[in-house]
Amino acid sequence: MSIDHSVSPAASAPARDDPPALDVRGLTYRFGAKTAVDSLDLTLAPGEIVGLLGPNGAGKTTAIRVIVTLLRPAAGSAAVFGVDAARQPIRARRLIGYVPQMLSADSGLTGRENVALFAGLFDVPRRHRRARVDQALAAMGLTDVADRLARTYSGGMVRRLELAQALVNAPRLLILDEPTVGLDPIARDSVWEHVLRLREEYGMAVLLTTHYMEEADVLCDRVALMHAGRVRATGVPGELKAALGPRASLEDVFRHHTGGALAGNGNGNEAGDFRGVQHTRRAASRVG
Ligand SMILES: Nc1ncnc2c1ncn2[C@@H]1O[C@H](COP(=O)(O)OP(=O)(O)OP(=O)(O)O)[C@@H](O)[C@H]1O
Ligand SMILES: [Mg+2]
Repeated sequence: MSIDHSVSPAASAPARDDPPALDVRGLTYRFGAKTAVDSLDLTLAPGEIVGLLGPNGAGKTTAIRVIVTLLRPAAGSAAVFGVDAARQPIRARRLIGYVPQMLSADSGLTGRENVALFAGLFDVPRRHRRARVDQALAAMGLTDVADRLARTYSGGMVRRLELAQALVNAPRLLILDEPTVGLDPIARDSVWEHVLRLREEYGMAVLLTTHYMEEADVLCDRVALMHAGRVRATGVPGELKAALGPRASLEDVFRHHTGGALAGNGNGNEAGDFRGVQHTRRAASRVG
């Protein structure tokens, strides 16, 4: 079974002159005196998978919460397929599927009830709800366990249930905040397999965060390296690695653009070559 986009307000096929799936410009958010997101720029093309990578506290979740309209930016804007998240939050939300970093499934409800709850929250027309819930559960491989309480699910199944919740409004932009944290490698693969299939079948754009660099390397068309509220570098993983050296990994790229500052190596070589990165890594391990 597949997700039926024909009944979605977001169903129109992407046209050549479609606006970006996501267009974030100068986005700024402050918690009191703390600037968590600092003039962030980020763009996603329709159908593109982009990884937002960065150390703990970089501002990834805060940026995402502004994009999904849960927080209002202090400055800048985020537009989803041309719909401004701050000015037209309801329209923007209809285009977005969101799996938050914190678990969002209710363990006291069945899988089906959890997805149905989201169908109601996201205004899926009543007459389509039952079919949409079934489709979303089937797309995540949960049909057989749909009537079991979510508390009996494994961690991987819970994450797939949350993906089903995010899919039930047939979004055109899927935003996943650490969807595979704490999962074993097989469950992680299963989540990504489902995400990739969705992209292939429906051309959804996907913005994801993960601390697993190998995953980001394999999955993402592009990555954006975020540190202290700003995007420090963005590009195709292969090109970012090649810019550092022939044997550089995405983890080296990550450390180069984020870890160097954390290690405070003070050698003024933050933008240096692969050897500079190795130096930074040694400094980082010394600093502890
Ligand atoms: N509710 C809050 N009140 C005050 N400060 C906050 C709040 N939420 C986040 N912050 C601060 O904002 C900054 C960015 O946090 P955020 O959760 O966006 O980071 P992150 O990149 O998602 O990190 P992680 O990888 O750990 O999930 C951090 O310094 C954090 O302490
Ligand atoms: Mg986070």
